[in-house]
Amino acid sequence: MELARPSRKTNGVGVQVGDTQVCVVMVGLPARGKSLIAQKAQRYLKWLSIDARVFNVGNYRRKGAAQPTADFFDVNNAEGERVRRAAAEAAVNDMIKWFKHEHGIIAILDATNSTKSRRRWIKDRCDSEGIETLFVESKCDDEDLIMSNILEVKTTSPDYKGQDPEKAAQDFRNRIRNYEKIYETIDESEQDLTYLKIMDVGKRCIINAIQDYLQSRVVYYLMNLHIKRRSIWLSRHGESMYNVTGQIGGDADLSPRGEQYASKLPELVMQSFEGQEHPLTVWTSTLKRTIATARHLPKEWNQLQWKALDELDSGVCDNMTYAEIAEEYPEDFEARDQDKYNYRYRGGESYRDVVIRLEPIIMELERSENILIVTHQAILRCIYAYFMKEDQERSPWLNVPLHCLIKLTPRAYGTEKVVYKANIDAVSTWRGKGSKALHEDPTEETESLAK
Ligand SMILES: *[C@@H]1O[C@H](CO)[C@@H](O)[C@H](O)[C@H]1NC(C)=O
Ligand SMILES: *[C@@H]1O[C@H](CO)[C@@H](O)[C@H](O)[C@H]1NC(C)=O
Ligand SMILES: *[C@@H]1O[C@H](CO)[C@@H](O)[C@H](O)[C@H]1NC(C)=O
Repeated sequence: MELARPSRKTNGVGVQVGDTQVCVVMVGLPARGKSLIAQKAQRYLKWLSIDARVFNVGNYRRKGAAQPTADFFDVNNAEGERVRRAAAEAAVNDMIKWFKHEHGIIAILDATNSTKSRRRWIKDRCDSEGIETLFVESKCDDEDLIMSNILEVKTTSPDYKGQDPEKAAQDFRNRIRNYEKIYETIDESEQDLTYLKIMDVGKRCIINAIQDYLQSRVVYYLMNLHIKRRSIWLSRHGESMYNVTGQIGGDADLSPRGEQYASKLPELVMQSFEGQEHPLTVWTSTLKRTIATARHLPKEWNQLQWKALDELDSGVCDNMTYAEIAEEYPEDFEARDQDKYNYRYRGGESYRDVVIRLEPIIMELERSENILIVTHQAILRCIYAYFMKEDQERSPWLNVPLHCLIKLTPRAYGTEKVVYKANIDAVSTWRGKGSKALHEDPTEETESLAK
C-alpha cells in the first residue's frame, strides 16, 4: 500500500510549487480587515498543506509598546516612529530567515505603514533574496463597514484588551487619522508590482501582473472573501443503521434514534439563533442519511445536495466493521492508525484526498452567508479543521459526537464555537488509535467538538 507522503514540492493540492516562495504584503489603513484577510489566507494555505506563516508587525511593535495611545502613531512622534520602524525590520528579518532555514512557501506580512517607499523597500529586500512579492491592498471608504470593523477590532484586539470600549473606539479612530496622513494607495506609478487591490470588500478588484500559479491561487481565494458577519452550522447525520451495527460507509437509512434527531434538528437550529432570525441555506451530501436528517427543516430554506460532501470513500472496506477490517486487512488497519491523515483506503480515499475535494466547498462557503451543513464524520472533521485551524495530524482523530449541532462564527481574531446538544442517545462512533472496538467511549483526553 503506497501512502501519499507530503513533500514541499508536491504538496496537498497536487501542485508543483517548485522553488517558489512568495511574500504576500498586506496594504491598507487600520480597520480594513487586513489582519482578518491575512489570517484567513494562512489558515487556508495550511489546510492545503502549503506552509504559510503570518508576520504581524503589530505583534513585534507590541513587545516595545504594549498598549500605546493614538499619539504614538503620529507621524511627528519620533520615538513612536523609531519603535515602529524597528518592528517592521524585525518582522521582515524573521520572515527572510524563515524562508531560508525553514523553507517556508508563503509568508504574509501584516503591517500598517502603507507608503510607496515602504513597498519599494520590502520589494527590494525580497528581490535580493529571490522571494516573489504579492501586494494585497484592502481599500475601503464605506463608513458603515469601517465602523463595524472598528467595533469588531476594539472588542477583540490585544491593543485594547481590558479597556473601556468607548474610549478604545475613539482612540482607534484617532490612530486611523494618523495613518491617513501618510497613506498612499497603490497606483499607476507602481505597475511593476504584482498586486491585488480589493475595493470596498470585494465590490471591485484590480489584479496586476500575477506571475504564477501559486500567486493566482492566493488571489482567487482572496477575491472570494467577504467580511459580513455570518455563521456556519455543522451537524452529522442522525444515527444510521450502520452506526448501530458498527459498519462503515454504505448508504444506510437512519436508525429510530437518528429519526428522532432529524425531527428535533429544526428546533435545535432555532435555539441556536438566540433571538435573531437568520436566513439559512442547507447543504447535505447525496447520501440518504444526510438528506433524511435535513428533511424536516423549514421548506423555505434552500437545500442543496453536494457529491463533494459524501463520506470519505473507504474503498474495499465499504460496509465492513472495524473488527472485520483489522481481520482482513491487518497491515492496512495498522498503517491507517500510524498516519490516518495520509492513509488511503484500497480503492478509496485518504483524509488528504477529502481535503482536496472539499476545496470548492470551502471556496463556496467563503462566498456565502449563513449555511447549515449536514454531512459525515470525516467531512465534518475536515471542514472543522479549516475553520478552527486544527492540525492535520490531530483532525482525523477529533471526536464528533452524533446528535449535536455546532455553530461556528468567524471573527476578526479566531472563530467562535457554540455547541447545541439534542440530548438524544446515540452510539459513540469514535474509535481510539489501535483499537478495534466499535462503540468504545472516547477517553478524557480526546478532543471533542462538543466541548
Ligand atoms: C513608513 O515607511 C516609510 C518608508 O519606510 C518611512 O519613511 C516612514 O517613516 C514610515 N512611517 C510610519 C508612520 O511608520
Ligand atoms: C456511521 O454510519 C455511516 C453509515 O450509515 C458510516 O458511513 C459512518 O462511517 C459510521 N460512522 C462510524 C464512525 O462508524
Ligand atoms: C456496500 O453496500 C452497498 C449497499 O448498501 C452497495 O451498493 C455497495 O456496493 C457495497 N460496497 C461494497 C464495497 O461492497
